[in-house]
Amino acid sequence: MAGKATPSDLTIVPRDRRFGRDAKTEHWWLGGDPVGTALYNALSATFPKGEAFFVESVRAFRDGADAKLAGEIKAFTTQEVMHSREHVQFNKRAHEAGYDLSPLERKVEERLALVRSKPPIASLAATMALEHFTAILAHELLDDPRHLAPADAETAAMWRWHAVEEIEHKGVAYDTWLHATKHWPRRKRWSVKAKVMMLVTRNFIVDRTTGTLELLRQDGITGPKAWARVFWFAWVRPGMLRKIFGAWASFFMPGFHPWKHDDRALIAAEEKRQSEAYA
Ligand SMILES: [Fe+2]
Ligand SMILES: [Fe+2]
Repeated sequence: MAGKATPSDLTIVPRDRRFGRDAKTEHWWLGGDPVGTALYNALSATFPKGEAFFVESVRAFRDGADAKLAGEIKAFTTQEVMHSREHVQFNKRAHEAGYDLSPLERKVEERLALVRSKPPIASLAATMALEHFTAILAHELLDDPRHLAPADAETAAMWRWHAVEEIEHKGVAYDTWLHATKHWPRRKRWSVKAKVMMLVTRNFIVDRTTGTLELLRQDGITGPKAWARVFWFAWVRPGMLRKIFGAWASFFMPGFHPWKHDDRALIAAEEKRQSEAYA
């Protein structure tokens, strides 16, 4: 299949792990930083509903998939279900620490209701674009340990575990999209995917920024200072959004596939780090 590049020796292995069940998470768990904490919490607020949507969107197109892709869809489903489970727990701890995530969750539901009102291929396209987005965030998170260095060990381990599996299953929604649109002309496939990526990127940035500002407001941090601090954190230092820009732009290149960039070394490095930590 044109553009298909998922490594033939890739195996997607769901790692059934649980985090933070016995301890409470600090209010500002990211090294006492309200801005970083608010941003990651805002991201976590989207996962339980968001990942359930990804699963449903991909599974709607599994008919006719070859055995390899069918197996990958199954493993992807298991991984995402476990991510949702852990983020439900994490969000509960954020709630116990004093944050009300419900306005952020309502926004996610609103966005999902809108895309669900369209034909199922729109949901698959949105999932395919968002999975690329998640995979490049995950790549950056593992590639530069400074992002999570200030976090408590358990919370950092949870985000790293999630990042590993996001990299591992990054081709699944994309391959399902290639399968579902195999009869489409190339131009149409490219223009739909480019439009959808622009839209989900805009919504992602607007919604996560708004959500982060809402959580900061709950901490009593408001006004231009709050805006400036969020902007600085996201775009300058540590500057996650700036750092993923190149990988984001690669999505628009002809012949793009998430596995054109094989970053499994990050998974191996993380697993080695964990086995040493728990040895
Ligand atoms: Fe996930
Ligand atoms: Fe994912």
